[in-house]
Amino acid sequence: MSTPATTVPSDVKSFELADLGKKRIDWANQSMKVLQIIRKEFIKNQPLAGIRISACLHVTAETANLMITLRDGGADVALCASNPLSTQDDVAACLVRDYNIPVFAIKGEDNDTYYKHIMSALDHKPQVTMDDGADLVSIALTKRTDVIDGIIAGTEETTTGVIRLRAMAKEGILKYPIIAVNDADTKHMFDNRYGTGQSTIDGIVRATNFLLAGSKFVVAGYGWCGRGLASRARGLGAEVIITEIDPTKALEAVMDGYRVMSMEEAAKLGDVFCTVTGNKNVLRKEHYDVMKDGAIISNSGHFNVEIDIPALEKMASSKRTTRNFVEEYSLKDGRKINLLGEGRLINLASAEGHPASVMDMSFADQALSVEYLV
Ligand SMILES: NC(=O)c1ccc[n+]([C@@H]2O[C@H](COP(=O)([O-])OP(=O)(O)OC[C@H]3O[C@@H](n4cnc5c(N)ncnc54)[C@H](O)[C@@H]3O)[C@@H](O)[C@H]2O)c1
Repeated sequence: MSTPATTVPSDVKSFELADLGKKRIDWANQSMKVLQIIRKEFIKNQPLAGIRISACLHVTAETANLMITLRDGGADVALCASNPLSTQDDVAACLVRDYNIPVFAIKGEDNDTYYKHIMSALDHKPQVTMDDGADLVSIALTKRTDVIDGIIAGTEETTTGVIRLRAMAKEGILKYPIIAVNDADTKHMFDNRYGTGQSTIDGIVRATNFLLAGSKFVVAGYGWCGRGLASRARGLGAEVIITEIDPTKALEAVMDGYRVMSMEEAAKLGDVFCTVTGNKNVLRKEHYDVMKDGAIISNSGHFNVEIDIPALEKMASSKRTTRNFVEEYSLKDGRKINLLGEGRLINLASAEGHPASVMDMSFADQALSVEYLV
């Protein structure tokens, strides 16, 4: 591994990837016009001068542009991954080599390394935390209480993180205020719906090269992400089936023209399944029992708990990797079920996450939230 001239601490895959990362960051920046305006103002006014920020986000080209904006506003930023499989290694290398930003993230890192990287980001002794899923805050509150007194406030990017933080606030264990960035209309209405909608399809297609036209595509969850995903799958000619536990949203899906049924029924019909609920074990043994041979199962919700993988492992007589991000489980009765991206959010595992223009809106919300908090 070549070493960069910088001395900032980091743990990234290889600095040889940094040139590619630079191109990718520049490409994303072209579509991030709002963040560009904020960056210009930040450079002029230095609203974050001397503020230490620890960010736990998907390490993508769009995130890189947010980190550079915060740094240009005077902040001292450190970044770790918010998912073991979402890091763009070239981007991580470039942020360290070319922007002197400490990054701790390697695509495919194991669980221990994932948490070690969160610890490294907290070693930065943040005054502001920036989270996507609330793992950074959870670790700070449980294993790194030494950093809590120094924290002014934080931000949270995603639905699942906001739900976790609200539960902590209710229990009285959340020790500092956090802005729920996901609650902004300019976040969930666009990022969750159009960003997740398009990039989840992108992830499934890149992993499988499966023809969606004429297929039965089951979307579990008709929230912001599910609505976007369903409309994009329909746009590609799939027959979309929705499963939803909230009766009002189920009714909305019916009136939007989809077939709506329980997963018990949908499991028998689907060719491709994607969970986007934020809930646990949405796909489980009773569903695997009746799925068609060759069914493709994936998740785009925040955590890899929506598909009960241990149950699938138990039912399988063997498994093999048939393509990048495709694990084929052979069941004892001869059927095969294909699990994508280890059940982790597939739009970031096998594709590149949301397009830059939609992350521009979310990350403008993030940058302005941090300015407000400081
Ligand atoms: N992949 C990404 O890049 C990305 C982007 C944004 C959000 N997310 C994540 O996606 C998940 C969904 O986010 P959202 O904003 O759409 O949330 P949401 O609350 O708007 O929608 C979730 C929906 O799932 C339904 N649901 C819950 N359990 C269910 C079950 N067992 N079966 C069927 N439906 C069920 C809920 O009733 C709700 O309508 C969260 O985990 C969020 O953090 C991922």
